[in-house]
Amino acid sequence: MHRICTAVGPKLPHETSTFSDRAVRGITCRPKAAVAAALWLVLLGATPRVCMAQSGEPIKPIPLEPQLDLRKVALGDRLFHDKRLSKDNSLSCASCHDLSKGGVDGLPSSIGIGGAKGPINAPTVFNSSLNFRQFWDGRAASLEEQVAGPVHNPKEMGSNWTEVLGKLAQDGPLVGEFKATYRDGLQTRNIQDAIAVFERSLTTPNSRIDKYLKGDQKALSPDELLGYQLFKAYGCVACQGVNIGGNMFQTFGVMGDYFEKRGNTTVADLGRYNVTKSEADKHVFKVPSLRNVALTAPYFHDGSAKTLNDAVDVMFKYQLGRPASAQDKKLIVKFLHTLTGEYKGRPLQRADSDAARQP
Ligand code: HEC
Repeated sequence: MHRICTAVGPKLPHETSTFSDRAVRGITCRPKAAVAAALWLVLLGATPRVCMAQSGEPIKPIPLEPQLDLRKVALGDRLFHDKRLSKDNSLSCASCHDLSKGGVDGLPSSIGIGGAKGPINAPTVFNSSLNFRQFWDGRAASLEEQVAGPVHNPKEMGSNWTEVLGKLAQDGPLVGEFKATYRDGLQTRNIQDAIAVFERSLTTPNSRIDKYLKGDQKALSPDELLGYQLFKAYGCVACQGVNIGGNMFQTFGVMGDYFEKRGNTTVADLGRYNVTKSEADKHVFKVPSLRNVALTAPYFHDGSAKTLNDAVDVMFKYQLGRPASAQDKKLIVKFLHTLTGEYKGRPLQRADSDAARQP
């Protein structure tokens, strides 16, 4: 059988990072752990993925400072918080992606204009620039393309570009800012561009795991370190992932029919199938990032897991097909809490709840 992940081996030529390999030396992947690899894909709704022997850590730290046009960042920030992007001026992007609450709304599924209940859970916008595609079903290839989705979605902002441009064009100072930033001024594509550039500024470096990966051996407590070692021994998450997920599609419910058990199947449950209409893509989703996962409950596309414990349970059951030992689960959840990063130099928080501090 394939080993899912081995911790030893030569450093690959393209690996230029400086963090220590020492942490992984001596950790081997037990064959039975191969199955458990899925766990990490789990939170993810993923299947085991064979990651052939590589050296170094499966997780890479987030680079400290993205090089961005600060004028565009500021304009995008403004637009991200501008309710005129919605039909009745009631919602901005930030309404569902609250930057003071981990970039999410904390609801199982989002509420759009007029109280419309959406079909799916809102992922965080933090680090979304590090995802290989956007949305649970990956239907947007880029952040620029993604912006049009919520603006037009009748259960989100319920508007369209003509309406939005009409409203923004009446705002002299904003029109001036567009002119100063883009040669052709206020245009749909420039709104999309500015918001996307702003979103690229929403990375959260300096989590404790990143500090550890960069060589600060004290950044993790002994329990958290054990949790990390279990995490790796159980599988290699998403090989070399900076975003610890966000880089592949996987089936949700490999070892059992999650959807049959949960009941009330929805169109959103079909996942990637909605994009490709291929049977093989039924219940396939983009593996979400685990970064800041302690702040982004409830979990999964259906928001069905209220806590990290619940999410880990579901993963073991439907991705691995076995129960988790309580101890392993506890340590892994502790490790997951080390993935919370910083935004603007301050640790990300979930202001409104205890979720960040609860397992
Ligand atoms: C009514 C709530 C709501 C509003 C308003 C909203 N979003 Fe979202 N956002 C969601 C939901 C729900 C999803 C997941 C939809 C899906 O995958 O089908 C999502 C997904 C995303 C994603 C993809 C993240 C990922 O990991 O796949 C990004 C990026 C994003 N939104 C940015 C924005 C921007 C920019 C705006 C404003 C133009 C916005 N959102 C407005 C609820 C909202």
